[in-house]
Amino acid sequence: MIQTKTYNKEILKTITAGLEQQPKRLPSWLFYDEIGDKIFQAIMRMPTYYLTACEFDIFRNQKDRILNHIMSDEGSFKLVELGAGDGTKTEVLLDHFLKKQTPFTYVPVDVSEAVLAQLATRLSKSLPDLKIHPECKLYNEALEIMKNDTSEKKLILFLGANIGNFSKDEAITFIKKLAVNMNAPDRLLIGFDLKKDPRLIQAAYDDPEGITREFNLNLLGRINREFGGQFDLELFSHYPFYDPETGVTKSFLVSNQEQEVWIDAIEKSIHFDKAEIIHTEVSQKYDLKMINLLSAQSGLEIVDVIYDQKEYFADVVLKLKD
Ligand code: AVJ
Repeated sequence: MIQTKTYNKEILKTITAGLEQQPKRLPSWLFYDEIGDKIFQAIMRMPTYYLTACEFDIFRNQKDRILNHIMSDEGSFKLVELGAGDGTKTEVLLDHFLKKQTPFTYVPVDVSEAVLAQLATRLSKSLPDLKIHPECKLYNEALEIMKNDTSEKKLILFLGANIGNFSKDEAITFIKKLAVNMNAPDRLLIGFDLKKDPRLIQAAYDDPEGITREFNLNLLGRINREFGGQFDLELFSHYPFYDPETGVTKSFLVSNQEQEVWIDAIEKSIHFDKAEIIHTEVSQKYDLKMINLLSAQSGLEIVDVIYDQKEYFADVVLKLKD
C-alpha cells in the first residue's frame, strides 16, 4: 500500500512534466490502468488489430521451436515476461512447456496490478501445476531483479510489439540494459511488428468502432479519475498517423478548441491552443534490416526469426554475441 502511494506521486510528476513540455507528450505506459487494460484487451480482439492474431499464430504453430531454444537436459529455467498483460498468448506456450514436463518458473512483469492479479487467478485455474511469481514493476525496475540472478538460465519474453513503444534509439538503450543482465545460455525473444501495406497499419490504430480512440482518450479519463482533472473527453480527438518512410506510427490527442483544463492534484490549469496536440504513443514498425541493426548495436546476435503465416509479424530470438 505504501508502495502504491509513492507510485502515484511518480505518476503525477510524469503527467505534470509531460503537459508542461512543448510539444505536450505523455508516456504510453499511462494507458494501462484498470479501464485501459480492459480497452486494450478489446483492441486485441479487433479484426483490424492484426498483431495479436499473428503472434498467436506463431505460438500455436512454433511452440516446440521456441522451447528448443531454452531447453536442455539439466536444470530449470526462468521464463520472464516483460509487460505480460493478461497473458492470453503466453498461455499457449506455458501449457506446452508444462506438457513437455520442462521445469520452469513463470515470472510475469507488468505495471498494472489489476492485470497481474487477473492473470494469476486465471492461470491458477487453467494451469494448476504452473510455478508463477508475478512482479508489479516498470520494465526498468524489472531489470534490477534480474541482476545478480545467475542461479537459473532465463528466457526473457518481450512480446506483442511492446518494443514498438520505444523509438529506435530508446530500443537500443533498453536492449543494451537487458543484455547486461543476460548470461551466455540466456535467450531473449522479442516480438516485432513488421512494415507492411501502410493502409493495414493505419487501420490497426484507427479502427472503425472507435475502440482505439477510447483507449487514447482514457489517458485523460485516468487523469480525471486519479488526479481530479477536468478534461472534457468530447473536446479532444484521436489522431493516429503511420509514416511508411520511417515506420513510425504516432498517436495524438488533438484539442478541438482553445481551452483551460483544471487539475486538482497540481492545483492549476493547463492551457491548450486550438488544435494543440498531446503526443501519446509511438508504435515503431520494423523490417529485417532494422532488426539486424538493432541487435548488432545492442551487443546481441540473432539466433532465429520466426514469422506468422502472413509474415506480418516476427518473433526474434537473440543471445549474447560470442
Ligand atoms: C501494446 C504497445 C504493442 O503499439 O500496437 C494498440 C498498443 N496502441 N493500439 C501497439 C496499442 C494502440 C500496442 N502495444
